[in-house]
Amino acid sequence: MRIALIQFEPVFGERDRNVERLIALCRENPADLYVLPELAYTGYQFVSAEETRSLADGLESPRIRAFRAAARDLDAAIVFGFPEISGASVYNASLAALPDGRSYLYRKTHLFYKETLYFSPGDTGFVVFEFRGARLGLAICFDWFFPESFRTLALKGADIVAHCSNLVMPYCQRADFAAAVQNRIFIATANRVGSEQREDERLTFTGESVLVSPKGEYLLRGPVDGEAVLVAEIDPEQARDKSLNRYNNVFAMRRTEMYSL
Ligand code: ACM
Repeated sequence: MRIALIQFEPVFGERDRNVERLIALCRENPADLYVLPELAYTGYQFVSAEETRSLADGLESPRIRAFRAAARDLDAAIVFGFPEISGASVYNASLAALPDGRSYLYRKTHLFYKETLYFSPGDTGFVVFEFRGARLGLAICFDWFFPESFRTLALKGADIVAHCSNLVMPYCQRADFAAAVQNRIFIATANRVGSEQREDERLTFTGESVLVSPKGEYLLRGPVDGEAVLVAEIDPEQARDKSLNRYNNVFAMRRTEMYSL
């Protein structure tokens, strides 16, 4: 399976233009699976609930339809982050649009910083689905900070976690090593770059998108600054072997009775 990480810098609020550019980057770099950043086409730093709602999309919006159409045209899965409006709630969500018309929605479980002001906590739970012989799981940015996120996805059978991110702290790219090794899965962290000055606060995003293998190899690592499309070929089957040696199958030997508080 060919995986592409799209490291991107959206222009805040320029939704249609950002979607066009993201789809163009996918089109120029053939792959089976594209992983895009969190809030990939809106920008990150909302300053009010009204602004967040005004830039949020329902699942039938023209932009979501554009990604679904691109997945069909490119015969590939596209996983992207976006603010999702559903009734009275706005979620920090990601959608996996598949070429056969299927799609899978994930709403971010662990909200970071001011996201807690403008988004509802996700209610989907962690999502895993099959695509081209691989099992894909969905996570968004700060979910990484909670080991339960990648663990739950791995226990649900994920081989690859599509981790749409807008990272501002310096840890995740290194922490992915431990999560990938401990769960024996691939972690595909697609991060954004650039900075956003909104009102009196500037946030700078850390780039350096990474793809880490179940053995902790960094198969891809993007630059700290600047957009990039990073592509690697992987064998998702490598994530199915949870044995370190003949005595230690790290999933079979979990002792859940010892973990309760
Ligand atoms: C984050 O969750 N965007 C850090």
